[in-house]
Amino acid sequence: MKKILIAYASKSGTAKEAAEKIAAALPNTVLSDLTTETPKLENYDAVVIGGGVRVGSVHKETKRFIDAHKEQLKTLPAAYFITNCFPESVDEIIGKMLPSQLKDAALFAGTLGGRMDMDKLRGLDKAIAKMVSKAVDEQKPVFSELDEQALQTLIAKFS
Ligand SMILES: Cc1cc2nc3c(=O)[nH]c(=O)nc-3n(C[C@H](O)[C@H](O)[C@H](O)COP(=O)(O)O)c2cc1C
Repeated sequence: MKKILIAYASKSGTAKEAAEKIAAALPNTVLSDLTTETPKLENYDAVVIGGGVRVGSVHKETKRFIDAHKEQLKTLPAAYFITNCFPESVDEIIGKMLPSQLKDAALFAGTLGGRMDMDKLRGLDKAIAKMVSKAVDEQKPVFSELDEQALQTLIAKFS
């Protein structure tokens, strides 16, 4: 049976939660936190790689893992996700996260929604989050939860 790696890097838990939901929905998955380990791609038949967004970029460990394995990733069925809050920034973030060859070959490359609880943020994170929020048009919708439909779309690619 196919073994699927679900690798993620998360600052406030949203990308981790998304990865856990994907892992729970598919058979034969292995979860890997890219901030604490570097999984070996040769052990897997398919891969899902994701990360939370801060100030216009995906988590640096997600980006680092993709960059370090881009040749190997070209040979595997792969899906890539971000968790973030501002829908209009998704294309730009994904564009920076993925070389175009990986993006074009991806089973999924997009956002799974996200959340940002201003009350729970402290210090610099809170200040930056406020600046980022102000920088986007307040009329535009902002994600406040994981996007269950997008999660199902990604999961269905491996079912
Ligand atoms: C300091 C800070 C900066 C953020 N910057 C962005 C951003 O530039 N674009 C965006 O869409 N979301 C931004 N967000 C929202 C996060 O991407 C969202 O909270 C996401 O769910 C985080 O994923 P994580 O919990 O896995 O870290 C920011 C959140 C914080 C706290």
